[in-house]
Amino acid sequence: STPLRLGIAGLGTVGIGVIRLLRAHTALITQRTGRSLEIVAVSARNRQRDRGEDLSAFRWHEDPLSLASDPDVDVVVELIGGANNPARKLVTTALENGKAVVTANKALIALHGAHLAQLSAEHNAPLYYEAAVAGVVPAVKVVREALAGDQLTQLGGIMNGTCNFILSEMEETGRAFGDVLKEAQEKGFAEADPSTDVDGWDTAHKLAILTGIAFQPIDFESLDVRGIRGVTSPDIAYTKELGYRIKLLGVAHRTKDGGVDASVQPCLVPLNSGLAQVGGAFNALTTVGAFSGAVTLSGQGAGEGPTATAVMADLIDLGRGHHLPLWGQQPPEKAALCVPSDT
Ligand code: HSE
Repeated sequence: STPLRLGIAGLGTVGIGVIRLLRAHTALITQRTGRSLEIVAVSARNRQRDRGEDLSAFRWHEDPLSLASDPDVDVVVELIGGANNPARKLVTTALENGKAVVTANKALIALHGAHLAQLSAEHNAPLYYEAAVAGVVPAVKVVREALAGDQLTQLGGIMNGTCNFILSEMEETGRAFGDVLKEAQEKGFAEADPSTDVDGWDTAHKLAILTGIAFQPIDFESLDVRGIRGVTSPDIAYTKELGYRIKLLGVAHRTKDGGVDASVQPCLVPLNSGLAQVGGAFNALTTVGAFSGAVTLSGQGAGEGPTATAVMADLIDLGRGHHLPLWGQQPPEKAALCVPSDT
């Protein structure tokens, strides 16, 4: 069988992680996919930077956008990040050209998912984004595949590794916020602009994506979002004395009239609850549905290996010939409301 040919845009933590994972598990991945996955081209901002991997076998594109029209690329793997260009233009153009896209870009899917779903359907070009939500935790897969038969009533949990890491470390070691944030950046958990993490926006992106699958696409601007910037070490200590731990949670409920209530904020969870035990850069997500009951998933929500594994799951799915619509259904009429006016 013919290889599935990949063009990777963005060689940061996740991009390099995907290259390393594929190199470490070439035989296993080929066997499980039924064909080989072959990286043919890459693109990143700085060609000179030593990334610790030999990239000489890959064609180098100065402009990531040209991956979308490279005839040797079957799948554009967008790991640049951010809701704006070049990531947005790259994904849009690749879909318009009928190429499959795999992305870890939560901001892009959260803000422009409805428009991308339309393009994906129009051009019969699959768009996969497991890595956009909760790293290796298969949140997208579970909500849009395993739970597709149930109508969920609520979903939510800890969806940002950086914030969870910061809160856990502040409690355990008494270190200051900024100091721990720096370590999260060094470990490759934090976003390029860490305010995306600590002000709750990254959690909001993930919540909006899952809400779009489980309930309906929501207007991102309408979300009530608060982060952890104001949380101090004394807050954490007093809260613990009262029997609670502070966690940044993203939660969405289906309302009686079929609407959605969604918010992101630091919450107090009882020390003996499951959520309180989730430490470090871990994420934990719970869904509730009338038939399915409660389902809880947890695992590493950030970092090279876990996020690369999620990207690889999508690539293997594509290699196997799977093609799911973006929300797990045809985009509902309401999706049109989310189409940004500047497209
Ligand atoms: N910055 C994100 C986090 C990375 O800390 O969870 C994974 O989306």
